[in-house]
Amino acid sequence: MPADSDTRELDIVIFGATGFTGELTAAYLAQHAPVGLRWALAGRNQAKLEQVRARLAERDASLADLPLLHADSSDDASLRAVAEATTVVITTVGPYLLHGEALVAACAAAGTDYVDLTGEPEFVDRMYLAYHDQAVESGARIVHAAGFDSIPHDLGAWFTVQELGSSAPITLRGVVRAGGMASGGTFHSAMTAMSRPRQMREAMVERRKKEGRPTGRKSRAVSGKPHRDRLLGLWLLPLPTIDPFVVARSGAALASYGPDFRYSHYAGLKTLRYTVGGSVVVGGLALSAQIPPLRNFLKTRIKQGDGPSIQRRKKSWFTVDFVGESAGRTVHTRVSGGDPGYDETAKMLAESALSLAFDDNPQTSGQVTTAQAMAENLVTRLQKAGISFEVL
Ligand SMILES: NC(=O)c1ccc[n+]([C@@H]2O[C@H](COP(=O)([O-])OP(=O)(O)OC[C@H]3O[C@@H](n4cnc5c(N)ncnc54)[C@H](OP(=O)(O)O)[C@@H]3O)[C@@H](O)[C@H]2O)c1
Repeated sequence: MPADSDTRELDIVIFGATGFTGELTAAYLAQHAPVGLRWALAGRNQAKLEQVRARLAERDASLADLPLLHADSSDDASLRAVAEATTVVITTVGPYLLHGEALVAACAAAGTDYVDLTGEPEFVDRMYLAYHDQAVESGARIVHAAGFDSIPHDLGAWFTVQELGSSAPITLRGVVRAGGMASGGTFHSAMTAMSRPRQMREAMVERRKKEGRPTGRKSRAVSGKPHRDRLLGLWLLPLPTIDPFVVARSGAALASYGPDFRYSHYAGLKTLRYTVGGSVVVGGLALSAQIPPLRNFLKTRIKQGDGPSIQRRKKSWFTVDFVGESAGRTVHTRVSGGDPGYDETAKMLAESALSLAFDDNPQTSGQVTTAQAMAENLVTRLQKAGISFEVL
């Protein structure tokens, strides 16, 4: 924990509490926070913050006095005030490439722990380049991608590596299957990230130069090819999300991943027809994101602030299977749960913040993954909260 965390007024602030995922995260904390948690909602629109608080107070009258903080991502002073008031900041204000940097800067300067939901690799690399060193110095833990991107993948890989318990090279594949719908905020963030492939590659190259590689060990994200997986009985389609980068970063940071760790990341589909269809849809969206009029048209069709209904979320689900191989031994594990994008994401994000605030975690600082910062403590929390981690 940052040295002066016990002198802060608050334990946790949720910035973006008026958005779709921010309000779900606030509702999760309202139901599951430990007694005496000192927390607040932050956002740019006071009237909307009051409405969110009133909805929380309908379930628990004691929340009628929950503090509300004014904060706008274009107002550095307001973000500094939030960062200095609390031990941990949760932010759901995206697209992070457009709105995220100033809060990372404020937390790195104030030694405040930070968790977000970004799935934008360029944002994560740019934040590493600009603020990692300062956060190491201040003691802040900057934890990106603490939702469905990338917790099940990062902690599922960590769980499988511990289960293998091998000191030989490890090859791991992660296979995602999910049923659910995206919110407007997720769609806008994905279109923003996909519209900048060149900038994303540049940031990645710059980061590699600065970060270097671990000495005497290797950890790599390897892009696989579409193929049939006999063990899982699925067609696998390489999935170019932020997840493999996060998993490889944990592999580079943690000695338990062995001398040579290789991770490949796939979507798992039942038939070849779905595999081809999936490639066409993902390719079509990536292409549309490159063409400004088409990108802008699509953005007007799906509005920020909207998201799947509670009925739709109740029917949603995810599984991530991991197959780890090392020294002739194979381990098959699975992480699974309900609605990946929102209900489970809100749970993962809130539990990450609670873990940073209260658990006895490994000593880390700077930009760190969930496996580096919290690993076992967060797995235990998520299991208690209903997300399954199992060995098959
Ligand atoms: N990776 C994952 O697993 C995952 C899952 C879910 C969501 N996400 C990400 O989380 C982010 C939020 O998604 P969402 O669907 O909740 O989006 P949303 O409903 O559009 O919410 C966005 C929030 O950001 C706030 N905001 C926007 N501009 C701001 C500014 N200049 N200053 C302060 N606040 C500002 C909005 O405030 P107002 O209400 O005042 O407009 C709102 O509270 C997206 O980037 C999405 O990709 C990721």
